[in-house]
Amino acid sequence: MAAKHNNLLIAILEEIQKHYNYLPEKILREISDQLKIPLRDIYGVATFYKAFSLKPRGKHLLSACLGTACHVRGTKSVVVEIEKQLGIKSGETTTDNEFTFETVNCLGACALGPIVVVDGNYFTSVKKQMVKQVIDQTLKGHDLTDIENDKRIFPLSVNCPQCNHTLMDNTHTLDGYPSIRVTISFNGLHGWHRLSSLYGSYMYESEHQRSLGSIANYFCPHCHSELSGSVKCPECSTSMIPMIINSGGVVQVCPKRGCKGHILDI
Ligand code: FES
Repeated sequence: MAAKHNNLLIAILEEIQKHYNYLPEKILREISDQLKIPLRDIYGVATFYKAFSLKPRGKHLLSACLGTACHVRGTKSVVVEIEKQLGIKSGETTTDNEFTFETVNCLGACALGPIVVVDGNYFTSVKKQMVKQVIDQTLKGHDLTDIENDKRIFPLSVNCPQCNHTLMDNTHTLDGYPSIRVTISFNGLHGWHRLSSLYGSYMYESEHQRSLGSIANYFCPHCHSELSGSVKCPECSTSMIPMIINSGGVVQVCPKRGCKGHILDI
């Protein structure tokens, strides 16, 4: 399938996934008929990306990391507690359709494990005693989270990996902290793009609006080098954007609009 059609199909599947919380077979057959794309190609894309599900999912997706770093920090007892609290095993959905629970191999924040992610919100250093609080907070809504006291989000100060110039913009804050300013380019448009420096927040502002699923190229506003790396996004496999953390380490974000994939290596 041509890249252009592939991107269109991904954007359509994202909308369906958002609407139904999974990809119903009946709808996939309709897309196949209307777009004249073989059903096997649609299933190929749907099963390749972790963000898509062919089975009904709960309103909230709760993922616990069972990777080595999290495992040695005691994630097993967290998993047991999640299964006990939700009354389901990994891969299952609660009968009220509130939660789907899954275990994954690495969520890219090994130094802060055990990691639990709910609907893209990272919870770090999770202990089994915290599981009930994570579930209750999810049911209340993450938007109501107190960013002052919530351990899952913390500010980062980052530099360009090419010229090492700071990317922080002290004159423009997001979430109450200096924003990260880069330049982006897509579909022949160029402009500024600001990201929240709070790890765990997805707030951003951009000079130009982009459609869901579109991928932008990111550049340093100082040396104009492209910020590109070889690491693939754990959510959608797009090449990620690396930035150097002042205090040591690298943070990588996915340049695909709507994808919440990010990796923290400190
Ligand atoms: S092993 Fe858990 S985040 Fe990497």
